[in-house]
Amino acid sequence: MGGAGGSIVRRVATLGVNIDHVATVRQARYREMQGHPNAEPDPVEAALAAVRGGALGITAHLREDRRHIQDRDIFELKERVGVKLNLEMGISEDIVGVALRVRPEDVCLVPENRQEVTTEGGLDVAGQLEALKRVVAVLRGAGARVSLFVDPDGGQLEAAAETGAEFVELHTGAYANAFAEARAVELKKLMGGAECALALGLRVNAGHGLNYKNTQAVLALPGLEELNIGHSIVSRAVAVGMEQAVREMCAILARG
Ligand code: PXP
Repeated sequence: MGGAGGSIVRRVATLGVNIDHVATVRQARYREMQGHPNAEPDPVEAALAAVRGGALGITAHLREDRRHIQDRDIFELKERVGVKLNLEMGISEDIVGVALRVRPEDVCLVPENRQEVTTEGGLDVAGQLEALKRVVAVLRGAGARVSLFVDPDGGQLEAAAETGAEFVELHTGAYANAFAEARAVELKKLMGGAECALALGLRVNAGHGLNYKNTQAVLALPGLEELNIGHSIVSRAVAVGMEQAVREMCAILARG
């Protein structure tokens, strides 16, 4: 972007920290003892530490099977963590109902498959266009900024623009899991996806599988506004604490 006097103004992508993995550890021990006084670790405490480390957003995925984040986590995150909440969710009636009560600042719609370890692919937007249009309208009506988690695919991006969503979150998983030449190919797809999204009037976020080694290259995506990163930050936090783990990732984003 050209600034006054020919200087270049570079926008730094912001970091949203996904804290699902903290809840995964808690549920591994306390799934059958919801609300037990010993239940730990607390995703809300983790989110507060992430904010102290520089996170400008907290992301949490309320899955239909409630395997990690619970409804009360979402309400507490909204109430106690002073940065924007990005609620990741599928489009079932139950979950949309929770979203309407929580009123998160951001919602990211994702596909959900009960057997998957984590979100596997982007949304098939084109294949469920009418359902997505309805949910996007309801959520936007409640004041949320809505993004759709999509692969960098022209057809899906065009469909995303038709839903009325303001953002897409480009799925970086294929890039993150590829190495050498294959990774360069995936990065090129992400670049093309970001350009296509911008041309369609969509705003661009990205995430999935990003870590301390592969994030820097993604910062070159045109128009990139926010990265959502979870697993790698929570893993690093085991060694250095959440605040420091987030500070280190923020430093990567700031270097661009
Ligand atoms: N963005 C979306 C839409 C996701 O589903 C996830 C995983 O929950 C992430 C970002 C974060 O991925 P990771 O935990 O691999 O950093």
